[in-house]
Amino acid sequence: MQEKTFIMIKPDGVKRKLVGEIIGRIEKKGYRISRITMLTISERTAREHYAEHKDKPFFNELINFITSGPVVAMVVEGEGVIEGMDKMVGATDPADALPGTLRFDYAVSKTFNIIHRSDSAQSAEREINLFFS
Ligand code: CDP
Ligand code: MG
Repeated sequence: MQEKTFIMIKPDGVKRKLVGEIIGRIEKKGYRISRITMLTISERTAREHYAEHKDKPFFNELINFITSGPVVAMVVEGEGVIEGMDKMVGATDPADALPGTLRFDYAVSKTFNIIHRSDSAQSAEREINLFFS
């Protein structure tokens, strides 16, 4: 099924100059980037994006991190792209991520894990609307 997902290269991924590498992997897989922008997200947008985690102990650290510098926000389209990008990104904690995933290959921290992907079709729609409305 043709789908859309929301992908965001987090501030650590941008600072570490991984934008080209990540976009290259997405394109080589055959997915299509239909929207793309670089921005520093506001605290308000960050809190809304991560609303499901508002009561978690790591929430404030997460908001500080995600607003700490520019991110690259994208809409990525393709057959089965929601699950496909979930697999390409890998587990939240890089220690649990499989080799070949972006988080295994480039991240070392559960917080600073370089990239976000929507976890479902509903999340994708919500997140795309938040960033590209
Ligand atoms: O990003 P993902 O969906 O894999 O993970 P999540 O459990 O939805 O958490 C969202 C983000 O919060 C993670 O990607 C991390 O950046 C951060 N996080 C954290 O700082 N500490 C944790 N114990 C769990 C998540
Ligand atoms: Mg999540």
